[in-house]
Amino acid sequence: MDMLYERSYSMKMGQVHLPGMDVFMANDPEVVRRVMVEDYEKFPKHALLHRTLKPLLGESIFTTNGAVWQRQRQLLDPAFESARLKAVFPLMLLAVNDMCDRLCNLRDGEVVNVEEAMTHVTADIIFRTILSMSLQESEARKIYQAFSRFQETALPISIDQIFHLSPWLVQPLTTWRNRKAAKEIRLLIDQSVRSRIEAMGTQLGSGKEDGMQEQGRDLLDAMLDSRITETGDRYGEAELVDQICMLFLAGHETSASALSWSLYLLALFPDAQEKAFQETRSVIGDRPPQYDDIGKMEYVRSVFREALRLYPPVGFFARESVEQTTLRDKFVRRGSTVVISPWLIHRHREYWQAPDDFNPERFGQEETHNSLRNAYLPFGLGPRICIGAGFALQESSLILAELLKHFRIELVADREPRPVGRLTIRSENGIWLKISKRS
Ligand code: HEM
Repeated sequence: MDMLYERSYSMKMGQVHLPGMDVFMANDPEVVRRVMVEDYEKFPKHALLHRTLKPLLGESIFTTNGAVWQRQRQLLDPAFESARLKAVFPLMLLAVNDMCDRLCNLRDGEVVNVEEAMTHVTADIIFRTILSMSLQESEARKIYQAFSRFQETALPISIDQIFHLSPWLVQPLTTWRNRKAAKEIRLLIDQSVRSRIEAMGTQLGSGKEDGMQEQGRDLLDAMLDSRITETGDRYGEAELVDQICMLFLAGHETSASALSWSLYLLALFPDAQEKAFQETRSVIGDRPPQYDDIGKMEYVRSVFREALRLYPPVGFFARESVEQTTLRDKFVRRGSTVVISPWLIHRHREYWQAPDDFNPERFGQEETHNSLRNAYLPFGLGPRICIGAGFALQESSLILAELLKHFRIELVADREPRPVGRLTIRSENGIWLKISKRS
C-alpha cells in the first residue's frame, strides 16, 4: 500500500496510461455512483478479475456479468434473507465456541497469528452454515496456507498478463504454484459439497444430516430449494460446487481480514477494547450469546465498521468500460479500466474528518452521515453489493464479543503489521498479538 502517493488520498480522479491499457482511478462519489449503481451494466467486472479467479472460483457470481450473473444472483439471494441468517445463528455459535476452546487451550499470554485464527473460525462458520460440517484444524491450516500462496501468486500473474515482463521461466512457475494452490482448496471443498449432496440423496430441498435437526436448515438447503420464479430454473450440481467454492472464499477470507484488523486496532487502543468488553458484559454477561444480543452491541459493531473503514478487505474494485464515455472531464476509451478504491475513499482527506484516526464513535455522530452516505463502501454498492454483508456483520459481532468476553488482546513489540494489497488487504507477515485469559 506504500506505493500509493499521498496525493491519491485527496484527488477526485486519476488517470494512468499504460502500454495497452488506460486506467482511471475514481474517488469522486458521483463517478462512483455512476459506475457502480446507475450505469453498472456499462462497467461490468473486469475480465482480468475473472481470469485471475477462475482457477479457484470457476464460473461464480463474484466474477460473472450480464445474464449469467443475474440468474446466479436471483438463485442465491434467498439463501441470505434475514430469516435464514437468524436460522444459522446456532451454527455460527458452535464454531465460535470451538474457537474460544482452541484459544483457551493455548498457554496464557501466548503470541498468536490472529490472521490464521480468524481464518480458521470464519472458514469453519462457512462450512457449518453452508454444509453443516465442521472444519478440522489440519484442513483449516491447509486452506490458510494454500490461499496465502494463491494470493501471493495471483497478482504477479495478472500484471504479467498485461505487460509480459517476467523472465521466461518465472511466469510458468508462478502459474504452476497458483494453479496448485487453487486445486488444493477446490479439492477439499469439492469433496465436502459432493458428499453432502450425496448424503442428502432423495431428500433434496428438505434434507438434514443426522444430528443436524436441532441446528436449523443450512444454506445449502436454501440453495437447493431456490428456483427462478418465472422459469422454475434451478442450480445444476457443477454450478452449485462453483457457487459454494466462491461463497467459501468470498465469505471467509474477507471476514477474516476485517476481524484480524479489528483485533489489531483493539490491541492498539486499550480504552476502546475496555469499552467494547464492558458492553459485551452488560449485554451478554456470563450466559451464552443469543441472536437478539447482536443488535444490542452497538459499540462492538462500530469498532468493526471502523476497522472496515481503515482496512477494507476488498481494497480495490476493477471495472471495464464497455463503451466510450466521459467520467468527470476525462475521455474514457472502450475497454479502459476503472478502479474504485475503498482504501482511498475511506481515507480521503475531503470526505472524512481525521481520516487516519481510529474513532468508532464517529458512526453515531451527525457530521459523519454525509461521509457514510457518500464515502463508505466496504461491501460495495449497487446491484453487485455484497450478498453476505448481513452474514458478515452477524458473525463478526459474535466473534468479537466472545473473544473480548474471554480474552485480553495486546500488541507485541516489533511485530507491527504492514498492510499489503493482495486479493484482500492482508498484513505482509501475519498479525501477531498476545492473547491472555481474563480472570
Ligand atoms: C467483512 C466481510 C466482507 C466484506 C468486506 C465483503 C466485501 C464484498 C465486496 C466489496 C463485494 C463487491 C465487490 C465488487 O463490487 O467488485 C462483495 C461481493 C460479494 N460477497 Fe462479500 N464481503 C464480505 C463477506 C461476505 C460473506 C460472509 C459472504 C458470503 C457468505 C460474501 C459473499 C459475497 C458475494 C457472493 C459477492 C458477489 C455479489 C455479486 O456480485 O452479486 N461476502 N463482497
